[in-house]
Amino acid sequence: MEKTDIEGRAELEVLVADFYSKVRADDLIGPVFDETAKVDWSSHIPKIVDFWETVLFRTGSYKGSPLHPHLALSKMTEMSRERFQRWVALFFETVDSHFAGENADHLKRVAADMAEVMQRRIEEFSAL
Ligand code: HEM
Repeated sequence: MEKTDIEGRAELEVLVADFYSKVRADDLIGPVFDETAKVDWSSHIPKIVDFWETVLFRTGSYKGSPLHPHLALSKMTEMSRERFQRWVALFFETVDSHFAGENADHLKRVAADMAEVMQRRIEEFSAL
């Protein structure tokens, strides 16, 4: 079947739920969420849907600072390039398995760019 694009919040809900189920099952990054950060998934998932909705559709439903929790995590565990690469690979794989189109491409680009920025900021932060 031909894949369609991400058109609104409903598609992002599918994407985000599937993405974090892959993340949690992953040996390299799953433990950062479930053991180091002990993420409360019932609040994390809607927050991340808000985040992507704000990126794609400028709803402003996400108000926060995405960098902060990752800097804090880098003091608790290794936030390595390898881990970021895995995060990005799982994200791309999840987007591609459900959707195709301009919004799907934009989401992947933003995710990869943010991963790069976060890694650089974490490296600067750990050099202090
Ligand atoms: C190895 C890579 C990553 C790990 C292990 C990771 C882990 C986490 C954890 C544990 C939280 C806090 C969850 C909570 O307790 O509420 C979080 C929040 C968040 N992450 Fe990541 N993350 C990674 C990469 C990324 C990337 C590349 C992005 C950008 C697209 C991203 C976007 C966010 C956002 C938007 C939040 C919510 C921040 C807030 O509280 O406002 N993460 N992440």
